[in-house]
Amino acid sequence: MNLKIAVIAGDGIGPEISKVGVEVTRAVARRFNHEISFKEALAGAAAIDAVGDPFPESTYQICCESDAVLFSAVGDPRYDNNPEAKVRPEQGLLAMRRKLGLFANVRPIETFECLLDMSPLRRDIVNGVDFVCIRELTGGMYFGPKKEGDDEAYDTNLYTRKEVERILKTAFEHAQRRRKHLTVVDKANVLASSRLWRKIAREMESQYPDVTTDYMFVDNAAMKMIMEPRFFDVIVTENTFGDILTDEASVLSGSMGLLASSSIGEKTPVFEPIHGSWPQAAGKDIANPLAQILSVAMMFEYFGLTAEASAVRKAVTASLDNNVRTPDLQLPGQPEYGTQAVGKWIADYIEKN
Ligand code: IPM
Ligand code: MG
Repeated sequence: MNLKIAVIAGDGIGPEISKVGVEVTRAVARRFNHEISFKEALAGAAAIDAVGDPFPESTYQICCESDAVLFSAVGDPRYDNNPEAKVRPEQGLLAMRRKLGLFANVRPIETFECLLDMSPLRRDIVNGVDFVCIRELTGGMYFGPKKEGDDEAYDTNLYTRKEVERILKTAFEHAQRRRKHLTVVDKANVLASSRLWRKIAREMESQYPDVTTDYMFVDNAAMKMIMEPRFFDVIVTENTFGDILTDEASVLSGSMGLLASSSIGEKTPVFEPIHGSWPQAAGKDIANPLAQILSVAMMFEYFGLTAEASAVRKAVTASLDNNVRTPDLQLPGQPEYGTQAVGKWIADYIEKN
């Protein structure tokens, strides 16, 4: 297959894990005989510094001309503590989501047998956890009408029927391909927007008779995720609830550095880790590259290249089993590996197996 990939490294640890993502993709290309080309593009603080815009038009063009975007992370402390800042790195991420129409953010939560004891939850609770959170990504409070005044400010949680229908369709179809259990998470006891979601989901249920659909308030879902995470198969929810719940879900597996995501929509799909830019670790070669590597696996899955994706997943599991781990997952007395060394080990493993 011929694939053109836009590479957006971004800020903080972004460039380090991005390098690993590209190296692993190249290893897959060699092992399975694909032609894959890469084109780097700027976003986030890196783009503000270079051209004054966190998602420049030139980056958008490169994304549009590519088959996929391999994204790393954006964010910079220079902006985090400055409420006066007119332009922020995160706006680059939001602009990318909006301009590429990336309405469905798929965040799988899986556990690794050898890491179960690193979870903040007991082994018997996390063992076997395997669910997917489908987060609506281009609507709701993030993008609804806003006002930012000195005495009054608001964000509007606006959703249209069209937006709700398309994300629910994605979610029902995901459930059909998995254990056929969909949980619609909302706050329908309080919010009008949630009641619209629930109404539309109920209307659509009959088109998916093989799927068991249940409805849960978001506060209850946050609790259930800790008490009984195995309950979940596919969760679908609006943008803000999805943001919060997926950070919560991400630690179940033992490290936030393990979770990948895909964002799918109207134009080029984007594959990225769910963690942020961790500026304190930038340049130190300590960031865990596994989430970025697993986002490469999700990219191959998107193109139907399942053997390629499982080669990547197998290599990741092998690296963990062999204690080739960055400091966040390292066991006492085991050798230390940096970001690049873990990446190289995994790329070599893919080529040799
Ligand atoms: C995420 C992040 C982003 C979000 C930030 C960086 C804007 O937290 O992808 O979950 O809130 O969507
Ligand atoms: Mg988030």
